[in-house]
Amino acid sequence: MANCEKPVKNIVVLVSGGGTNLQALIEAEKSGEIYGGKISCVISSKEDAYALVRAEKNNIKTRVIPRKNYDNSNEYSEAILAALLEEKADLIVLAGFMTILGEQIIKAFPYKIINVHPALIPSFCGQGFYGLKVHEAALEYGVKVSGATVHFVNEEADAGAIILQKPVEVKNDDTPEVLQKRIMEEAEWKILPKAVSLFCQDKLNIKNGKAYIAE
Ligand code: GAR
Repeated sequence: MANCEKPVKNIVVLVSGGGTNLQALIEAEKSGEIYGGKISCVISSKEDAYALVRAEKNNIKTRVIPRKNYDNSNEYSEAILAALLEEKADLIVLAGFMTILGEQIIKAFPYKIINVHPALIPSFCGQGFYGLKVHEAALEYGVKVSGATVHFVNEEADAGAIILQKPVEVKNDDTPEVLQKRIMEEAEWKILPKAVSLFCQDKLNIKNGKAYIAE
């Protein structure tokens, strides 16, 4: 009898740092919140990223492709692309990956790469806005609400179709570190696993360059 069940999607997570978003994905997978997907490999741009330890503790395959070993972004993107093809990635998740991917990767995986950004796009995003810098800019501006965005990755930094967003209150005495932590806890760690699960269930539709969740 034919097996009509959909194959489980291979999720490859790209990281550069602490990996708390990776941890949120691992926990979500363990508790059955990610339907139809499995984290099959974690690729780091840094040898000493704590995210690698998190992956190893959970018996997830790791690969290190250090950015510093490559002369330019094009050569680096070629190396990442080769690894993604070897790993047979169905979905690529940028979870605190601090290198912009070359267009050969975007073209090879259209609407198959998602990123979590620690602000409400289109605020505080694009070239130069990453990690703590995002929160420094939000506090400097004086916004009262910030948050997180999960979006598809296209050729332009932080400009791909938005999948999910969640607002988070900014408080008077926030430092960039305090705001970063609140945004991670209240927004990033929730919407990233949710977006991954929606993708793995084929519940994200693209129309006129925008992403919509299927009813
Ligand atoms: C997260 O806040 C993520 O949104 C941000 O870096 C942090 C990584 O933390 N990503 C960017 O700024 C990308 N533009 P993590 O390694 O603990 O997940």
